[in-house]
This record gives sequence, structure tokens and C-alpha cells, in this order.
Amino acid sequence: KATIKDLDLKGKRVFIRVDFNVPVKNGVVTDDNRIVSALPTINYALEKGAKIILASHRGRPKGEGFEEDYSMKPVFLRLKSEFGDNVFYSEKVIGEEVVKKSQELKEGQILLIENLRFEKGEKKSDPEFAKELRKLSDLYVNDAFGTCHRKDASVYVLPTLYEKPVAGFLVEKEIHYFENVLANPEKPYIAILGGAKVSDKIPVIENLLNKVDSILIGGAMAYTFLKAKGVEIGKSILEMEMVELAEQYMNKAKEKGIDIFLPVDHVITDKIEDGKVEITLDEKIPEGFMGVDIGPETIVKFKEVIKGAKTVVWNGPMGIFEIDSFSAGTIAIANAIAESECVSIVGGGDSAAAVKKAGVFDKISHVSTGGGASLEYLAGKKLPGIEVLSDK
Ligand code: 3PG
Repeated sequence: KATIKDLDLKGKRVFIRVDFNVPVKNGVVTDDNRIVSALPTINYALEKGAKIILASHRGRPKGEGFEEDYSMKPVFLRLKSEFGDNVFYSEKVIGEEVVKKSQELKEGQILLIENLRFEKGEKKSDPEFAKELRKLSDLYVNDAFGTCHRKDASVYVLPTLYEKPVAGFLVEKEIHYFENVLANPEKPYIAILGGAKVSDKIPVIENLLNKVDSILIGGAMAYTFLKAKGVEIGKSILEMEMVELAEQYMNKAKEKGIDIFLPVDHVITDKIEDGKVEITLDEKIPEGFMGVDIGPETIVKFKEVIKGAKTVVWNGPMGIFEIDSFSAGTIAIANAIAESECVSIVGGGDSAAAVKKAGVFDKISHVSTGGGASLEYLAGKKLPGIEVLSDK
């Protein structure tokens, strides 16, 4: 794909679609990974003398105008700490007032506009809304990897209104890992899947069964697989309607010589808050208890597999890692990946947060800023927001 390096930015108004859909608490951004990840593109454009219009969505507002809970103001504050008085804010997303603000920008200045989804046209891929956005700039850059699996107007329609819509450095890097590196992964190639739902990962598992050498499964989705093997799982989270499919996947893996590793022991509790916490002796979970993390034997086994891998992709935590007493499994996996010599790609907000919590962020080859977007890639799909960008 063509990138921002292929554009002449000097003196131009440049619309940079970013994914600043970041968590906020009490008006403060609590995880700025997505903002920091877009800085190389923003800084490059500033150095080249561009006038930048930054635009993102945040959360899922109704699309009927301003909603405080989904405002970009906390992001604006975070950007101010980076760019000081060179960054401005517009409460309006489209219309005369914001167009005027974009025209008044000087080289090296940034205008952050409000949440694109405050306008209903954004989610509806509305061409009229895209035309209004088009008035804000001369050039278009997409650095919103986390949104590239959506057909929202600003990522899917707006770029088609420019002669040469390009990728920013973050999108370029994500494409590199998901398309180039994973197209020809060095073997052994292993996938580690976790999180709550098997149903969220169906297309991913189906695609990976044609690519990987082993799959390690943890998190709540493991209990559905264990159930399919006939193992007692107590009152652990179960997707009954997925049991049959889980069994089919295990059979298919066997036919193809792919190892699927399930937990061999668990951290269990009878109640998530202030319950009794125990570790099982084997894969069985007694009645009245639920699994909340992989157990120590499983950690040892999973670590061994990770150690021998040359390429690892990881999506989804191994347990309820937000609660400290159930986070050991997820943290151990993060550490094991960091210690291994493999090329490692971690996707999904929870796994990225776990990597941060474990303090090994810099030891992972690539921590993706995409949740849904990275899953679509792992499912072997093309992302609409990337498809519409110009080729080199
Ligand atoms: C994400 O966080 O996955 C992206 O920002 C997309 O958000 P969405 O799922 O609300 O479209």
C-alpha cells in the first residue's frame, strides 16, 4: 500500500483517521497505547509542514449529536500534553465552523475534531457525510488500524474521495506483521487463544487450523472444549451450542496432525468475589466451582510449547486477569512469549493490557492496536479500510 511517505505534505491540510477509541476514567485516558502508536505518523506529518486534522470515533454513541461520555475531550487533554498549544479542538465534526477552523490552521498545528460517531452518517457509511468530511482537508491518511475492519464512512467511503488515500506508519506496521510475517511464518507456528467465547473465535480457529502447528487454548473458551472431551467443568462458563463445533475442531486438528493443548489444571473458585480459591489436581472442575485461570501445571506445559516456537500469535487472556488472584496464567504466558526467541504478535485489548501488566511490552515483536481488526486478519479476511487505500 502507498504510505504517507508517498505524499507531499508541505502546507497541506491532512486528514489523519486514527483509532483513539481509548478507555477513559473520570475524564482521563487510562490506556494511551493507541494514541502513542499513532504518534510516529503525526510527528512525521508535522515535521513535513502539514496542517493536521485528527479524527476518530470513541465508543458507540447513539449518533444523534454530542454525548459527554463519548467525547474526545479526554483525548484532547492527552494530546495537549504532547503538542501543547499546537493542538486545537472542534466540538463540531462537520459544517462551516469546523471547515473554517481547518482553513485557519498553520503548518505544524493540529485540529482534533469530536467523535465521528456523533454523526449518524459515520456508522451508516453515508456518502453525503463523507462529502462533508472531505471539505476538511486536501489529503487523506488512514492510521486507524483498529477500525479498518469496519465500513464506517471515514475509513471506507471518505478515502475514495481523494486521489491518493494512503496508510500511516501504524497501519503499515500492522499490515507488515499480519500480512507479510504471518503469510510465511517460521515454524513451529503456534497460536494461543483465550477469552470468554468460542463463538467469537470460530472463523479464527477455522483459518488457523490450516496454518499453525499447535493451538493452546485457555480462558473461558477452554471449558467448552473440555466439555466436548467429556470432562467435568463444574459451573464454569460454557457455550453449550458450541460444544459440537469444539469437538469437530479437535477431530479436524487430529486429522491434520495439529496439537490442540487444553488446560490440564485450573485455578477455581465458588464465587468470583471473595470466594474460596483452589487449584485442581487435574483437568476436572468439581461441582459448585468454576475455572477462572489456567493452573500451574498448565503454565509449565504451555511455556514449554511456547519456548519451542518460532512464530507465536496470541489473542485473549487465560483467565479473569483483571482480578489479581486470577491473573497468574495470563501474566505467565506474556512472560513466556517475551522470553522466547520467536516472532510474536499479540492482538486484542486484553492481551495487550496483560503484556503491559507483565512489563514486557517492549519484548513482543508486535502488540497490535486492533481487537476486532486483528481477529479478522487472523481469520484470513481482508480489511475494508485497508483495501480502499491506494497501492504503491
Ligand atoms: C475497537 O476498539 O475494536 C475499534 O475501535 C472498533 O470499535 P467498534 O467495535 O465500536 O467498531
